[in-house]
Amino acid sequence: MTTAVDERPDIIDVDDRVREGSTSQIQDMPAYREHWSRGEADPSGYWLAQTKQRVHWRKAPTQGLEGDCWSVCDGPITWFADGELNVTESCLDRQLAKRGDKVAIVWEGDEPGDVRELTYKELHAEVCRCANALRELGLKKGERAIIYMGMVPEAAVAMLACARLGAVHSVVFGGFSAEALRDRVRDCGASVVITQDVGKRGSKNIPLKATTDQALEGEAGVEAVLVYQRDASVEVAMKAGRDHWWHETVSPASAECEAVVCKAEDPLFVLYTSGSTGRPKGLVHTCGGYLTWTAYTHAVTFDLREDDVYACVADIGWITGHSYIVYGPLCNGATSLMFESVPTYPDVDRYWDMVARHKITIFYTAPTAIRVLAAQGPGPVRKHDLSSLRVLGTVGEPIDPVAWRWYYEVVGQERCAVVDTWWQTETGGHCITPIAPATPEKPGSATLPMPGIMPVLVNEHGRPMVGPGEGRLCIAHPWPGMARTVWGDHARYVMTYFTTFPGFYFTGDGCRRDADGYYWITGRVDDVLNVSGHRMGTAEFEAALIAIDELAEAAVVGYPHAVKGQGVHAYVVAQPGVEADDALTAKAHEAVRGSIGAHARIDRLQYVPGLPKTRSGKCMRRILRKIAEGEPDKLGDVSTLADPSVVDAIIEGAKSFG
Ligand code: PRX
Repeated sequence: MTTAVDERPDIIDVDDRVREGSTSQIQDMPAYREHWSRGEADPSGYWLAQTKQRVHWRKAPTQGLEGDCWSVCDGPITWFADGELNVTESCLDRQLAKRGDKVAIVWEGDEPGDVRELTYKELHAEVCRCANALRELGLKKGERAIIYMGMVPEAAVAMLACARLGAVHSVVFGGFSAEALRDRVRDCGASVVITQDVGKRGSKNIPLKATTDQALEGEAGVEAVLVYQRDASVEVAMKAGRDHWWHETVSPASAECEAVVCKAEDPLFVLYTSGSTGRPKGLVHTCGGYLTWTAYTHAVTFDLREDDVYACVADIGWITGHSYIVYGPLCNGATSLMFESVPTYPDVDRYWDMVARHKITIFYTAPTAIRVLAAQGPGPVRKHDLSSLRVLGTVGEPIDPVAWRWYYEVVGQERCAVVDTWWQTETGGHCITPIAPATPEKPGSATLPMPGIMPVLVNEHGRPMVGPGEGRLCIAHPWPGMARTVWGDHARYVMTYFTTFPGFYFTGDGCRRDADGYYWITGRVDDVLNVSGHRMGTAEFEAALIAIDELAEAAVVGYPHAVKGQGVHAYVVAQPGVEADDALTAKAHEAVRGSIGAHARIDRLQYVPGLPKTRSGKCMRRILRKIAEGEPDKLGDVSTLADPSVVDAIIEGAKSFG
């Protein structure tokens, strides 16, 4: 299906709206409904018009969407396939004329008041220098570079520098272990790694370079490692011929670098995320559609204004950092804050101190942080002047109405819109979310779909539901920001997302729709954990545990946790004759940390005599989940178990966790 360019005169050019104060085109519900209907009636036309207003194209596309949720089996869908662009021209070059001296990135370091500002002009120059340096180090269009850094502006510079060259970046969250980093380096076949000596978080040093060295030991593919120096007082080993300091390589390079022109569907980045089974998947996002989606949703959801100081306190290692610290905000010419520290360092009022000092107008964080800070009461918030705030966002996990109200009442002083944005690594950007200030809110609900998003709830028989009800959340039609494939394994992409409910993209989430058509995300319905907004696979925990010689079996499930959203409950079976002592427990924790990273922690480790298995040997995880959730009286049918007595022992053992 190809649709010609739709030049609707009634869509106001974004720059005109900027002058009026808002870059969103949706200020009220009639506008929302109109845009949503247009997006449904003519997706290609709607998005072609949007992309031309929001993205700078070298060659403007005339093709909209090609393909659908059925045709993905034969190959990726495409958006804007005949268009050509380099995303950094949208994010940097075209901003220079009007916004050259506007602050693009405000950086707040680990220590309060350790602040750096980069204007669009400065960011452009630094990205060009870095791109020139990376080219010198051998990085070419289409090749992959891993970025393993903390929250420093240079991480964003590195991403954009790769994009400048048409190279594909893959950012790996700085909490991941050497083993996890090595897996990702190998999977995407990276030739360059960009890292830093140490990361800083809450006064602690994170040994990023040392972990990189460990990960790359014996790896032949990586030819160059670029190292940003965060703390000159820390000594790190540098491998001659492979390792290069940023300040010796990037800083002296030319501040001019011609952008490499890419096709709309060339990959922009690969980002690894956990699924139900197997190793994390490298989801591929492409240049044109992803940038269109992030720019659009960033402007529309948050009601972006030219003079906003916008702060998303996520980490750049996750999709939220990609879409809503770097690509969306910079494409929109916004001032985007990057935060290196944690919400409780040096004190629990860190966020609110930062809001007051930087006069932040839009603040975007995760429900876990809100719950942690709400537990401190209103005192730390009230110490600061938060009158600059206009929009408050949340992301990453369901927000319970109590936390929502605290955010709205105490932080937002009942004045700010709260946008509970539901989306995923796979979706590239917001899919179900209130639009500030248009959408009437309901605490705990992600409310309504973005234009372009057609949610479908599917019942247990696989049938789409009409009206109110609860089911599995699917999306019926491709949108520009959706991931196109899994790096190197398109069959896995199709299998994971398009075969459970043929003809639909399956999100892995459960969801309720109320009588007003509002959506309430209930959480994952698969074996994916969401701990403090961090997505992890139970299979990854289990693989780490059973790699220990002394353990025979392991099953990991999530359970409700008051602060983290979900906690991790691991049931492990020791090998016959092995004593389940403290040393073994410590070994189990270390194995998970070594295999996944410091952010992956088992909250409850329970030794059990066996796992509840059916006579055919299948572990009944449902039973384990119910026990972990504290509902052993609701196990349902256990008649197919090979040995029901195991369940009694597990229930008994779980009592120690309260
Ligand atoms: O379960 C949903 C939950 O986070 C999952 C996606 O995780 P990830 O790919 O790491 O992306 C996180 C940042 C977008 C979803 O499948 N999730 C995300 N946002 C929300 C949410 N659950 C409820 N409400 C949300 N607002």
